[in-house]
Amino acid sequence: MKYLLSLVVALLMAKATAAQPVMVASPDGRTVVTVVTPDGVLTYRVDRDGQPLLLPSRLGVVLDGGDTLGVGMRIADVATSTTDETWTQPWGEAEQVRDHHNELRLTLEETSDDARQMVLVFRVFDDGVGFRYEWPEQEALGVFEIIDELTAFRFAANPESWWIRAYENNRYEYLYEQSPLDRAGYVLHTPVTMAFPDGGPFVAVHEAALVDYSAMQLRRIGPTAFQADLAPWSTGVRVYAETPHRSSWRVLLIGDTPGDLVTNYTVLNLNEPNALGDVSWVRPGKYVGIWWAMHLGQWSWSSGPNHGATNEHTKRYIDFAAEHGFDGVLVEGWNLGWDGDWTAGKSDFSFTEPYPDYDLDGLAAYALERGTRLIGHHETGAGIPNYEAQMDDAFALMNRLGVEAVKTGYVDWGMHFPHVTAAGDTTREWNYGQAMVNHYQRSVEAAARHRVSVNIHEPVKDTGLRRTYPNLMTREGARGQEYNAAWGGGNGPDHVPTLVFTRMLAGPMDFTPGIFDLAADGENANAVPTTLAGQLALYVILYSPLQMAADLVENYAPHMDAFQFIKDVPVDWADTRVLEAKIGDYVTIARKDRHSDDWYLGAKNDATPHTVDVTLDFLDVGQTYTATIYRDGDGADWESNPLDYVIERRTVRAGASFSVDLASGGGLAVRFAPDN
Ligand code: NOJ
Repeated sequence: MKYLLSLVVALLMAKATAAQPVMVASPDGRTVVTVVTPDGVLTYRVDRDGQPLLLPSRLGVVLDGGDTLGVGMRIADVATSTTDETWTQPWGEAEQVRDHHNELRLTLEETSDDARQMVLVFRVFDDGVGFRYEWPEQEALGVFEIIDELTAFRFAANPESWWIRAYENNRYEYLYEQSPLDRAGYVLHTPVTMAFPDGGPFVAVHEAALVDYSAMQLRRIGPTAFQADLAPWSTGVRVYAETPHRSSWRVLLIGDTPGDLVTNYTVLNLNEPNALGDVSWVRPGKYVGIWWAMHLGQWSWSSGPNHGATNEHTKRYIDFAAEHGFDGVLVEGWNLGWDGDWTAGKSDFSFTEPYPDYDLDGLAAYALERGTRLIGHHETGAGIPNYEAQMDDAFALMNRLGVEAVKTGYVDWGMHFPHVTAAGDTTREWNYGQAMVNHYQRSVEAAARHRVSVNIHEPVKDTGLRRTYPNLMTREGARGQEYNAAWGGGNGPDHVPTLVFTRMLAGPMDFTPGIFDLAADGENANAVPTTLAGQLALYVILYSPLQMAADLVENYAPHMDAFQFIKDVPVDWADTRVLEAKIGDYVTIARKDRHSDDWYLGAKNDATPHTVDVTLDFLDVGQTYTATIYRDGDGADWESNPLDYVIERRTVRAGASFSVDLASGGGLAVRFAPDN
């Protein structure tokens, strides 16, 4: 019956008139999108397994002057197609990605004399729905301003939800809150994640391919109803556009389990293929860096007696990286401009001139000699015009020095990001509005011109653009490790098991795991809310193609046996499986190395002890594996005894049961290496 649905859809479409519903179903028939235009008002609904997921919800945009595209339009053309193709990620959490969807393209035309056209495109996958607006080139619509987007999401139930508020000062850096959807905040960042009641689906709302548009937040319009809220410019306009133009995709990720949201490639599938051609120069890797010491207040970014980025310190970090096989050494505070107030748009950074105690050329060469390389750092302090003027020279310099990746940074608050208008005036904008979306895009393209990859801190949220620009490798965009111990009050043990099902659904995160000095003295005593085994688990749980060992290098010396896991764990995966999960409580993930037959497993729980109890059905049948297990010791506890860990070996086979106890705030990391 369900397979018939897709066929019926085509028939219905052929006969579509403004009054009749037009439907498109997922390839498995379980998800059905229906577009209806009662009284000429464009709406859509989404059903899953015959139950409503989204009640009829509006579509359209309000243009400058208040007229609406999405009311009084007739369906001028209906086109459908099916895609089923598998593409290869140059790097990623899975090597092969299947893109299997049914597409519906509705060309809408105003019935008034204006006869302006808008195209509405739906793509329905087995595990997600994407839709967007296109405004084709046309006489009746040239330059235009979107002052509101009417897209609504009227949920048919009151699911449990995980969310953070938008339009707060600190960008995306808030702890996720959990509540029934009708108790969630007024305007939310995406992804917003939901668990529908009575065994219903898990759903996340997000967007894909955010290019030359404003990011979509969700603004409450009813107890369980939200409207797309595009970050406004300081002028109040949401998007400045000229045809042909299109919105980013509005996305629903849909799954039967929380894990289905994690191994869900809808966002990537909705992005355009690689636009950069040969990207063999984009290389995943692990790095150490002159970084945590600044956050602990032991060294400084600025010049002076505690300057972190000195020749001596950097050589020590390069030597450590070389000895232990790390691909890179991040050095922050290497360049002129850190003295004085560099935050809040007051920065005056040079991205080509080092401090006198930092021999940039010599250190870059020393790193290469030792078989590693420097990782660049461009903290802009949100001095956008200053950075844009230097960007090309700065990336060219990195390329000349053999630096393959640069961490960029945008420390500033709220709506403070400067933008220079065509008239030469400086306005202040949100870092997720169109001005900054376009800036981040220019920075990625500038980096690509010089074969440099980027890791953006204080970014706009990830919408899967790494598919199109594989040098856009990773980013922050949530509370990372630096909130633990260093500043910000700590993240709490719930944070990571929540992050996996919220922020991480958007894409890779530079969380910077690997703090081993968990029993630090003084006020910060053990504010990192995990055990040591829990830190190891993060390398598997929180995907990033650039992964840091974030602690001071000397803090690894007492635990070299555990450090071995960080040395071994890959950053580029052939496959990912979520073995068990309860959002906010625990998650166990297995990933297969892309460059060997090894599998890795990570498990992370909150403050409640948890027993991982899984079947090793991902291993190759008939093969024995040595499992090297890094687990919490029997007395481990994140608050009182975080350094209690045990390393043990077991011989295991496919299909075996595997059971290990996690302590409060604990974790588990396992390497499965085939014997022989
Ligand atoms: C904030 C970033 O998240 C952090 O990693 C960096 O060290 C500082 N900005 C300084 O650039």
